[in-house]
Amino acid sequence: MSLFIVFEGGEGCGKSTQARALYRKLCHQGIPAVFTIEPGGTLLGTRIRKILKNRGSIPITPESELFLFSASRSQLLKEVILPALQAGKIVICDRFISSTIAYQGYGRRLSMTTIERVNDLTIQKLVPDLTILLDIDPEEGLARRRDIYDRFESMDISFHRRVREGYLKMASLDSDRWGIIDASLPRKEIACIIWRKILDLLKESNHSLK
Ligand code: TMP
Repeated sequence: MSLFIVFEGGEGCGKSTQARALYRKLCHQGIPAVFTIEPGGTLLGTRIRKILKNRGSIPITPESELFLFSASRSQLLKEVILPALQAGKIVICDRFISSTIAYQGYGRRLSMTTIERVNDLTIQKLVPDLTILLDIDPEEGLARRRDIYDRFESMDISFHRRVREGYLKMASLDSDRWGIIDASLPRKEIACIIWRKILDLLKESNHSLK
């Protein structure tokens, strides 16, 4: 039985910590799982990640940015995600296409039609079974960042507000497949909420636990 679980959210929401914690918990339960990130997760993706995140790097137009994220995603899909799902594993992905809709669509204001066309070409109809949105006020999220801001973190606050608005809209339009969690809650409490959601999904698919 395979499941595709995606973590989404704005800067400093804590999704990577929670995604990794869930991965460890599944492994501990003896459930075959794979953890991966976007952009990244492959040799090509890791190189693209550096180009996209590095603030002092080369000029990148919003359209090129869209294609770079999609190239990383396409590689990740074929190299990691699809083989793992076909092998019956649970795939936990730190970001997926909703990041593109939120950041390049709502944030950069690229045409949604263009984004949808590129996304359709990239993901070959793969839809996450569950997308967990760790929702945070952008000011609070950015304040959690102590290191130097990268190319996205250094965008102005209105950009981050639009990203959040985009996420909340997507989640409200597909509430069966999205779970919104208040990212300002204590870390352990968030982990418990996530685990309950995963248990429900596992029960639905008759997966037995240790
Ligand atoms: P993170 O993995 O550390 O959150 O960094 C990834 C950054 O890239 C983050 O600022 C969100 C951004 N991003 C996009 O703008 N579009 C995308 O499609 C993805 C996957 C990430």
